[in-house]
Amino acid sequence: MRKKLIAANWKMYKTPAEAREFMQAFLPLIDGHDRDEIVICPPYIDIASVIDSARGTNIKVGAQNVFWEKDSGAFTGEVNPSMLLGAGCEYVIVGHSERRQYFGETDDTVNRRTEVALEAGLGVIACVGEVLEEREAGITEDVLRRQCARAFRGISARKAAKLVVAYEPVWAIGTGKTATPEIAANAHSVIRGEAEKSFGREFAQQLKILYGGSVKPDNANALMSQPEIDGALVGGASLKPDSFAQIVKW
Ligand code: PGA
Repeated sequence: MRKKLIAANWKMYKTPAEAREFMQAFLPLIDGHDRDEIVICPPYIDIASVIDSARGTNIKVGAQNVFWEKDSGAFTGEVNPSMLLGAGCEYVIVGHSERRQYFGETDDTVNRRTEVALEAGLGVIACVGEVLEEREAGITEDVLRRQCARAFRGISARKAAKLVVAYEPVWAIGTGKTATPEIAANAHSVIRGEAEKSFGREFAQQLKILYGGSVKPDNANALMSQPEIDGALVGGASLKPDSFAQIVKW
């Protein structure tokens, strides 16, 4: 059995003080609850507050993006993997659909970020997923295969040890529409198949594939009970301590 991973993606929400308040309320709610791995991905500016508040717990912290240049340099506004590690991050989200949609992220830049972050020793949560038009046109599987193949390109199975993939159908993000467990399970097996092509069978069997897109307290159990679903990437419902705690306790 692969251990499940429940990750919060706070997107552009919360000041450092609000992040601390969240943690104060959240920690008692999940006390003693260590069945799954829990990762919180706040905005860069809140990373220190969350890490500080999470000290002594097994909550891990991740960033929401990372630059592909591993050495320091003149890249205004960017943050490299060593900086994230130095701040205490263990994970980073790469290729989120909002980055693809609003900030020019491409399959190629996803690949560059993934490779450099893995090489530095970060766990990478690489996001893939089809938009509504692609689903309606019946090309979801092709889109997922292409996104995965390009994200994984040139990365060895050894380097990819800390890779996690998140299947996030774009039509389900922030819309209240959730993929049915069957839709998610089918997409996950396509992703696992592509991972097998790139990294081999043994790697693919171990790979964690998360589902993201309107995961809420009332649907978390149905989704997380699917053996093909190894966890969740939670946006909106991770912003409130009680709803995220309920999801963690699915
Ligand atoms: P949502 O976002 O849970 O608000 O749909 C998920 C995500 O974008 O990672």
